[in-house]
Amino acid sequence: MTINKVMVIGAGQMGAGIAQVFAQSGLQVMLNDLKQEALDKGLAGIEKRLKRAMEKGKMTEEDQQSTLQNLSGSTALEDASDCDFVIEAVVENMDVKEKVFKSLDEITPSHAILATNTSSLPITEIAAATSRPSQVIGMHFMNPVPVMKLVEIIRAIQTSDETYQAIEDLAKKLEKTPVEVEDFPGFVSNRILMPMINEAIYTVHEGVATPEDVDTVMKLGMNHPMGPLTLADFIGLDTCLYIMEVLHEGFGDSKYRPCPLLRKYVKAGWLGKKSGRGFYSYE
Ligand code: NAI
Repeated sequence: MTINKVMVIGAGQMGAGIAQVFAQSGLQVMLNDLKQEALDKGLAGIEKRLKRAMEKGKMTEEDQQSTLQNLSGSTALEDASDCDFVIEAVVENMDVKEKVFKSLDEITPSHAILATNTSSLPITEIAAATSRPSQVIGMHFMNPVPVMKLVEIIRAIQTSDETYQAIEDLAKKLEKTPVEVEDFPGFVSNRILMPMINEAIYTVHEGVATPEDVDTVMKLGMNHPMGPLTLADFIGLDTCLYIMEVLHEGFGDSKYRPCPLLRKYVKAGWLGKKSGRGFYSYE
């Protein structure tokens, strides 16, 4: 199938990045958000990133102009009525996502593929909320989207081979590297990353080493570009806790038990960079 017209729902940090890479690859993309303010912020962020890329000589003025021409804004889901592909990047909440998918199922043409950028919710359950489950799939981009090469493509149990193939082709068109993954808690990325972060928190919790020293070990000893606790602060400690709970509940295995210190930080409102304090201070 040919994908020409795309809608990205949710103009937050992921949605805006996703819309940018689609527009850069020559597709017509509409960025949608409930709130005009969030939409404006998302579109302004894209413009700023493109300008910076141009100033650094990474993009020609012509490419910047054509990218902006491919991009438009929307605050009405009904605008998806002529889209071939819709990807949702709204808040990580099953009720909200199910509602969005039910509406999209009614609004979009019958051939349209509906994707979610969820980092932890079951794609199979989201697919079941629609009357076209074989055309529902997970397309999990990494943050920051314009920079990170990986796209995890997650097949719900209902996803057809045609849908999978169309999304793999699409990821390649965006110059990303797709990896095929089955729908199990945490997929591959977060199933491996989050227990590592959780273990780093246990290491601090048990007094084995300071956050700085844990990060130094992983950076200099394992060649990770960023230590696990710095990374946790960037992701948001509430998000880390949420994903650990998804793994713990989904597998029913105590090895995924969230560290009590992680719970304590979240309860204190120490959520990492976004709140000014996590394992490090950002004041
Ligand atoms: P965000 O909070 O920055 O953005 C969410 C946006 O969705 C907000 O602008 C909000 O106004 C909008 N929104 C909420 N409900 C809506 C609706 N019904 N219709 C239209 N817009 C709506 O969130 P972020 O970080 O961009 O995450 C979005 C999704 O991407 C989540 O599912 C998250 O799990 C996933 N994700 C996040 C990553 C990250 O590093 N932040 C990485 C990979 C996936």
